[in-house]
Amino acid sequence: MKENNYPLILKQIESLIDENVSFYPNLGNILALVKESLSLFWVGTYIVQKNHLVLGPFQGPPACTLIEKGKGVCGKSWEKERPFLVPDVHSFEGHIACNPHSKSEIVIPLRDQNKKVFMVLDIDSDELNGLGQKELDFFQEVSFIIEKIYRKSL
Ligand code: SME
Repeated sequence: MKENNYPLILKQIESLIDENVSFYPNLGNILALVKESLSLFWVGTYIVQKNHLVLGPFQGPPACTLIEKGKGVCGKSWEKERPFLVPDVHSFEGHIACNPHSKSEIVIPLRDQNKKVFMVLDIDSDELNGLGQKELDFFQEVSFIIEKIYRKSL
């Protein structure tokens, strides 16, 4: 991905958060800001519900609504409780192709105050190698902000 001013975008996210409203309006705004600021194909969330991930707030084209634990990059990230950086989705066994335009992706599990994964953040690019270590580092910071507002909202 081309050079982006990630520290500036993080500051913009922080200043966008409205402490007078609950988690979801803030999450929606964060995703909108990220999508508007970067050349991403899709950015959004899947919420943990029993043994599935259910599509949560997102920006971009319509996506798969239900993902089983352990399936696809999202399900694996939830199961293994670690981020995945996938520079080429075709090389990831079991990748779920919600949209054929998606070529590379990052998925990061988000944890509640008890360290339990409650959601995953999914970022898709329509370019091969469109997402790299810089993007992983940036989205890890975005994840910390989302976790912080989630924990405060409980
Ligand atoms: N590609 C994902 C599915 C979700 S969409 O990309 C929005 C996966 O394999 O987990």
